[in-house]
Amino acid sequence: MKKEINKILDTAQKEIPECQNLDSLEALRIKYTGKKSDLHSLLSQIGNLPPEQRPEMGKILNITKNKIQKLLTHKKEELQAQSQKRVAQKNKIDITMSGRPVEIGAKHPLYKIWDEIEDIFSRLGFEVAEGPEIETDYYNFDALNTPEDHPARNLQDTFYLKNGNLLRTQTSPVQIRVMENNKPPIKIISPGRCYRNDKVDASHSPVFHQVEALVVGEDVSFPDLKGTLDSFVKTMFGSNIRSRFRPHFFPFTEPSAEIDILCVNCNGKGCKLCKNSGWLEMGGAGMVDPAVFENVGYDTEKYTGFAFGLGIDRITMLKYGISDMRLLFQNDLRILKQFS
Ligand code: PHE
Repeated sequence: MKKEINKILDTAQKEIPECQNLDSLEALRIKYTGKKSDLHSLLSQIGNLPPEQRPEMGKILNITKNKIQKLLTHKKEELQAQSQKRVAQKNKIDITMSGRPVEIGAKHPLYKIWDEIEDIFSRLGFEVAEGPEIETDYYNFDALNTPEDHPARNLQDTFYLKNGNLLRTQTSPVQIRVMENNKPPIKIISPGRCYRNDKVDASHSPVFHQVEALVVGEDVSFPDLKGTLDSFVKTMFGSNIRSRFRPHFFPFTEPSAEIDILCVNCNGKGCKLCKNSGWLEMGGAGMVDPAVFENVGYDTEKYTGFAFGLGIDRITMLKYGISDMRLLFQNDLRILKQFS
């Protein structure tokens, strides 16, 4: 029996250290120490030995079994350490690898122009003022001298809210808010979103953008208005682009005018964009009506002022040659990426 035991130990001492992976090591564990192993069957034969040999054989068998188990444990630890090392190697960060490209977003063309407008006017000494998009009847109409029966107040033109407030139809209410809170001299622009109940088409959108300008002081005159506008238009579109006024009516300015600029496409020769007129409509303007000054408590003997409102969407479209206003609001990346 001793011989057999030694033989088992011998082969185990050869096989186990040579084992290459955990699966085959498990097979060896079963082979040498499992219920069906030779060692196990020898152990169960001890009872057949003469009583005086039993203790010695038992001891030898146990020692052998322990030795084999130690070999197995040692090998297992070694194999596990090896596989951990392999995983670590695999997960190691390769700092020489080139990075994934990061997609960089870009400003919407409309907001680029918005920024440019603020830039140009701040160089002319204007400050930027803001007002709420949800307005009251008072600020959007009454304080701006707009009569009760003016068509703009119609439900068909203005979005009214359930509580009687409305979505501002113009940036002009900011004029009132600024004057209520400040004494002249005043020199502000106010770019912002406006809303009108318009059907969507190539040149209309229920949401659009205006920039308001208001200048109030002791000697503010019509030529100041014309000069300021001209200087803006020339900086924005080029020194050859003149502006002109056509007589018009706004409840809050007197006299009032509509602003045209020379067609940026044909320089006034006449083309499809300007419908052969040579001119493009840009917005409205005028000298502040004294009735408006009275609403904010300004001395109408002392102060005069001018105001104008321009379409930012319109300016953007002209500047970038966009022919359909819907392209500004559809957020089609194929379009927007052309401006990044
Ligand atoms: N608020 C006017 C509009 O939306 C434009 C305007 C502004 C006219 C300031 C005169 C003065 O049509």
